[in-house]
Amino acid sequence: MKVLITGAQGFLGQYFVKAFEEEEIIPLSHKDINIEEKETIEKIISLKPDLIIHPAAIRSPDLCEENPDEAWKTNALGTKHIAIACSILDIPLIYISTDYVFSGEKNSPYTEFDPPNPINVYGRTKLAGEIFTKEFCRKYFIIRTSYVFGEYGNNALTQIYNGLKEGKEMYFTNYHYASCTYAGDLVRKVKELSKTKLYGTYHIVNKGVITRYDFACKVAEFLGFSKEKIIKITPETYKAPAKRPLYSVLENYILKLYNMDDLPYYEESLKKSLSNIL
Ligand SMILES: NC(=O)c1ccc[n+]([C@@H]2O[C@H](COP(=O)([O-])OP(=O)(O)OC[C@H]3O[C@@H](n4cnc5c(N)ncnc54)[C@H](OP(=O)(O)O)[C@@H]3O)[C@@H](O)[C@H]2O)c1
Repeated sequence: MKVLITGAQGFLGQYFVKAFEEEEIIPLSHKDINIEEKETIEKIISLKPDLIIHPAAIRSPDLCEENPDEAWKTNALGTKHIAIACSILDIPLIYISTDYVFSGEKNSPYTEFDPPNPINVYGRTKLAGEIFTKEFCRKYFIIRTSYVFGEYGNNALTQIYNGLKEGKEMYFTNYHYASCTYAGDLVRKVKELSKTKLYGTYHIVNKGVITRYDFACKVAEFLGFSKEKIIKITPETYKAPAKRPLYSVLENYILKLYNMDDLPYYEESLKKSLSNIL
């Protein structure tokens, strides 16, 4: 099977390349293809993939808020181009989406049956990507995940680990409640789903609820570092351009209904991930 992966040099892209390494991979980085351009459609068709995994995006909510046209072009139109190519080739598309499609006003975990209602540009552009995926593809997996961490690539865990080693002060909010996800668990479950015809939208996160601050403290605790340089950002001291949902905890509800939800508690996966770093 030929598996085309967008954003292949990004954090999750690297995990997908590794997870599908026994297949023939077409890894496309930003240098190989700019998904904003409409020529993406023809280019992808000419490569004749059997499956596309599409994590490429502008993932920073603050960058999206400050550069909305870029965010709409990459996250929404870029996904539209890929979805059209999939529809012409009649192949499945796996689109990686986010908990930020939700507003954060619910006080129990969001399931796949809850209506999205994003509150920032990032969330709105990622939701538009979901809508294009559904509009053009017959066979799709929309995977919503949250605060993904792993032992390599640029992500929350590697940033916290490096910051702790360097003794840097690090600032995290302590009032946005969310799920977090070990990249290894995520790509394993995506791969499992990709072998089925159970197309549709899925939440894939580890169990447990965190704030960014709690997560950083947990990493420090597991590594035996002091937490004194991990500093809380409170609503009074929050200055970032993009609003974040106050509560975006996801439940893997459809996986649970299919008896496929074996995602561990995040602490277990965090320990595993840290043991791979050390
Ligand atoms: N990381 C998380 O915590 C998290 C949580 C929820 C959902 N997600 C979703 O997961 C996906 C992957 O995130 P990630 O953490 O792996 O992000 P990442 O490390 O920033 O990777 C995204 C990749 O997309 C590429 N890209 C950006 N614009 C592009 C364009 N116009 N054309 C082609 N490639 C382009 C980037 O290349 P350059 O860097 O060279 O621009 C980068 O390699 C995203 O869709 C994100 O919304 C991530």
